[in-house]
Amino acid sequence: MNVPNHIAIILDGNGRWAKAKGMPRSYGHVKGCANLETICDDMKELGVKYLTVYAFSTENWKRSREEVEGLMKLFRSYLKKCLKISERNKMRVKIIGDITAFDQDIQEKIVQLEEFSKDYDELYFQIALNYGSRDEITRGMRRMAQDVAEGKLLPSEVTEDAIGNYLDTAGVPDPDLMIRTSGELRLSNFLLWQMAYTEFYFTDVPWPDFNKAELVRAIEKYNQRDRRYGGVKEE
Ligand code: IPE
Ligand code: IPE
Ligand code: MG
Repeated sequence: MNVPNHIAIILDGNGRWAKAKGMPRSYGHVKGCANLETICDDMKELGVKYLTVYAFSTENWKRSREEVEGLMKLFRSYLKKCLKISERNKMRVKIIGDITAFDQDIQEKIVQLEEFSKDYDELYFQIALNYGSRDEITRGMRRMAQDVAEGKLLPSEVTEDAIGNYLDTAGVPDPDLMIRTSGELRLSNFLLWQMAYTEFYFTDVPWPDFNKAELVRAIEKYNQRDRRYGGVKEE
């Protein structure tokens, strides 16, 4: 089995999963968060080098105050727990997205986790928090425009590679496989630039039920794909 170098996941369906069990949405988020721990171990075991998960979008602030507060509480405890997960898997953690919108203590936990894990290189784990692809591109282009205005970058140096280097994912290879759980067939503002040639896999399984067997199924499907870039088959 050819294991993708970089897998991106839109972890969706926590709310519906809980509702189907007659439980509040917050219960789905707790289970979904626990599943995030297991999936890191699975990725490491399978030999995946980069994992990016979409955990909170720039649009998710529109949810009820109660739900957003519950998620913030969950991020606090998860970011702390993630130190152990990172140590166990020799995993480097990087948050992508605009973290300045979070409370100070959450921002500090993020900095601490990134600093703690910076020398690990067996799995590179990106967590998208307050992430939106259009927001990421906008922030990046603002910095790029500033550099051009200050003469640090010439207009002729604005290349595809240069643009990639102004994004939150700078230095990380593009995803090979994108998985979205729980049945929705859209990108919801996730990695629009980076996924120009990514293979997509959609499953009806809700995120709290997505396990290693489901992951292997997705990778097997990916293996059956005939990957092409502009009509040339990848050998
Ligand atoms: C994904 O599950 C988690 C977040 C977006 C925070 P949802 O909360 O979107 O669950 P559904 O899609 O409403 O079932
Ligand atoms: C996408 O899920 C964002 C995350 C998984 C964090 P949503 O559930 O928020 O997306 P839409 O609203 O269904 O597109
Ligand atoms: Mg959803």
